[in-house]
Amino acid sequence: MIERTLSIIKPDAVSKNVIGDIIRRFEQAGLKIVGIQMRHLTKKEAEGFYYVHRERPFFNSLATFMTSGPVVIMVLEGEGAIAKNRALMGATDPKKADKGTIRADLADSIEANAVHGSDSPASAAFEIPFFFSQLDLVR
Ligand code: CMP
Repeated sequence: MIERTLSIIKPDAVSKNVIGDIIRRFEQAGLKIVGIQMRHLTKKEAEGFYYVHRERPFFNSLATFMTSGPVVIMVLEGEGAIAKNRALMGATDPKKADKGTIRADLADSIEANAVHGSDSPASAAFEIPFFFSQLDLVR
């Protein structure tokens, strides 16, 4: 099934100048970018985006990290895009991520883990319109 998923290149990866490296992996896997923006999130935006994690002990630190520098936010489209993106990213904790995944190759820690990707169709349905209106997405 053709799906759409939300991808964020996080502040650690943007500051390392690896935006192109990450986008190349998506494109080579057959995912198409149908929306893209670069912005420096506010604390309120980061907290709103990660609302599902509001009770977790790492919530405040995560929101602070996500506002520590600019991020690149994309909508990726393709066959099985949600699972495909998650396979490319690797496990949340880079120490546990498979070799050759984005997080194994480029991430520093479980928090500064280079990328975010929607983990389910329900998450994608919340996360895509959080940052993009229909008009911002190409067809
Ligand atoms: P992400 O896939 O964006 O989803 C939630 C984020 O919380 C996660 O990546 C990490 O950046 C961050 N995080 C920090 N600590 C943890 C933890 N112990 N477990 C899961 N996520 C964590």
